[in-house]
Amino acid sequence: MAAAFLNQTSKPERLDEKRSEILDFIEQQKQVDRKVVLVTSGGTTVPLESKTVRFIDNFSVGSRGAASTEYFLKKGYAVVFLHRNRSLKPFLRHLSTYNFLDLLELDGENQDAPVKVKSEHQKRLSSILRDYEQVQRDRSLLWVEFQSLSEYLHLLQMCSTCLQGLGKSAMLYLAAAVADFYIPKDQMPEHKIQSAEGPLQLSLQLVPKMLEPLVKEWVPEAFVVSFKLETNKDILVSKSLQALDKYQHQLVIANLLETRKREVKLVTTDNCVDISMTTEELSSGHEIEEKIVRELASLHSKFCSPDGH
Ligand code: PMT
Repeated sequence: MAAAFLNQTSKPERLDEKRSEILDFIEQQKQVDRKVVLVTSGGTTVPLESKTVRFIDNFSVGSRGAASTEYFLKKGYAVVFLHRNRSLKPFLRHLSTYNFLDLLELDGENQDAPVKVKSEHQKRLSSILRDYEQVQRDRSLLWVEFQSLSEYLHLLQMCSTCLQGLGKSAMLYLAAAVADFYIPKDQMPEHKIQSAEGPLQLSLQLVPKMLEPLVKEWVPEAFVVSFKLETNKDILVSKSLQALDKYQHQLVIANLLETRKREVKLVTTDNCVDISMTTEELSSGHEIEEKIVRELASLHSKFCSPDGH
């Protein structure tokens, strides 16, 4: 099913070049004995036309993936950040509510006056820059971009198979909001759909779940964390347990759309750990991803140790 889907959709541009970049990156991390996590982030689009003017999108802005990436880096992991273009990015996300030009000012009146950061933003920017420069020096973050569902799935397969060589020290953290429905290529109009033809009726097909080949074939030894997003709390844990049973991976992070920034459940076959944020923690700028990553790093260490403790 998954193989058929991937065969009938076109591959992203420069796939082989990206594969070499990822393999080089992984080799560098191996040399310094760093664990590697593949973080997926943001929503996938589903095109309605081959020459795409319109597409179906979803709500995800990539906060979960971008924030988690920073905490994984702080924990000493290297991160392959597979993200939706124009979604939130680690480090830069802290500035996403600012107009970039409002952060700067000219230092003087003359034509060639240098540009400087306004004094009220110095502290914030220097702290972000310090963390970012450290990551640049360590070469511990690799950016890989997608937009459409098919780009995402091809890149997910490629990144996962590249991680195979790391065995248990690879982690996959699948936080992207992946579409469940799509229009197959042979049913998709080539040109822009015309409104003159009247109301539009769409027939979408089911996307095969990629977790199945990912766990069984692409990266069978890795520590795989998937997410389960629901809007109805009554089915959240049962659906997470079903996913664990079906795909046989290590852990599901269960979250509800409305409360995802303040509570999640880490569900394994024999345990369910609640992680939550108090109002004080949230208002002082703490993020739930810090707690999630701390817990995952500890579970991953146990998973990697020979006796599993
Ligand atoms: O980005 P934010 O705005 O911060 O929001 C974060 C989030 C809510 C998107 C994130 O926390 C989250 O829950 N991500 C997963 C959303 C999702 O796709 O859930 P799902 O129940 O549809 O899929 C469950 C799992 O199956 C996912 O890990 C997904 O990677 C996987 N999947 C999905 C579709 C598909 N065809 N193949 C898959 O393997």
